[in-house]
Amino acid sequence: MKILVTGGLGFIGSHTVVELQNEGFEVVIIDNCSNSSTEVLKGITKITGQEPVLEIFDLREKEKVQDFFKRHTNIKGVIHFAASKAVGESVEKPLLYYENNITTLVYLLQQLQEQEAANFIFSSSCTVYGQADELPITENAPVKAAESPYGNTKQIGEEIIQDTCKVTPNVKAISLRYFNPIGAHPSAKIGELPLGVPQNLIPFITQTAIGLREQLSVFGDDYPTSDGTCIRDYIHVVDLAKAHVVALQRLLQDKNTSNYEVFNVGTGTGSTVLEVITSFEQVSQQKLNYKIVGRRDGDVIAAYADTTKANQELGWKAKSGLEDSLDSAWKWEQKVRQTK
Ligand code: WQD
Repeated sequence: MKILVTGGLGFIGSHTVVELQNEGFEVVIIDNCSNSSTEVLKGITKITGQEPVLEIFDLREKEKVQDFFKRHTNIKGVIHFAASKAVGESVEKPLLYYENNITTLVYLLQQLQEQEAANFIFSSSCTVYGQADELPITENAPVKAAESPYGNTKQIGEEIIQDTCKVTPNVKAISLRYFNPIGAHPSAKIGELPLGVPQNLIPFITQTAIGLREQLSVFGDDYPTSDGTCIRDYIHVVDLAKAHVVALQRLLQDKNTSNYEVFNVGTGTGSTVLEVITSFEQVSQQKLNYKIVGRRDGDVIAAYADTTKANQELGWKAKSGLEDSLDSAWKWEQKVRQTK
């Protein structure tokens, strides 16, 4: 069965391609390689023994999207990762984010509307909840005003899909609201490859530990949490990838209860920044050079998932804990630097 994965060479996309292939799906990737490389294709192929089909083009080119679906008439599902994801950059370049994340979504849905039956999985984010009033966060928590154009593209994206599903019963969709994806494939053949200075905590930690960065700045220790640092729900990217496969299977097997559904994807456990650092020091057997600095604009105090809905309706649960995830991230960092 043929599945289209947009952004399939990216961090979460590549791990999802592996899990899809492991489950016997045939994968076609569209990627513009703006934040990834064809080396990733080699990593995927080494893990699964199968090379996915890759088409390199930009989904903003509407004619190319149309042409793709004319050539591939038997796509049974689409998992849409291709998007820009740097929160800070989105504040600087909002229109780039609206073009990359919204226009491309519209072009894809226009194609799916034409199909007899279409199944669509969307990469959404826990950022839609902002600072939730209650923890852990359930899917019923209200969506709060977005803190950044990036966050807004996820909210608008969900609305566009919901509106489409309302009038187009042949399109079935699930939005997966990711908490904080980290880690790498246990084989260390694929992982996260941030461009430039990493904005996210884990790649910054691993790059500091390997000597690429001098020091990690911990943004604020005066939050109302156990040790004063922010709490997040860090989920292993392989667990997250598997959630996409079960979500897709739910649609393919007609087990969905409505043609638009939303699921949180997290571990259900929150960790503070200092807990992450301690855990990293344990798994890597290294002392991490860090200092406490001021708060970062836009950070929420605490976010972790209530995963009951995904547990019960998708039959999915995260298997890896923080240590496993950090261990895989560290092994990947070491591997990447060795081969450079
Ligand atoms: C985690 C914690 C920081 C860097 C963002 C997006 C979200 C999602 C994932 C992505 C926070 C602290 C970080 C550093 C630090 N989407 N930190 N020093 O902000 O929870 O979520 O990435 O594609 O939509 O908003 O993740 O990894 O940036 O931060 O102290 O150098 O680590 O303050 O508490 P965040 P993060």
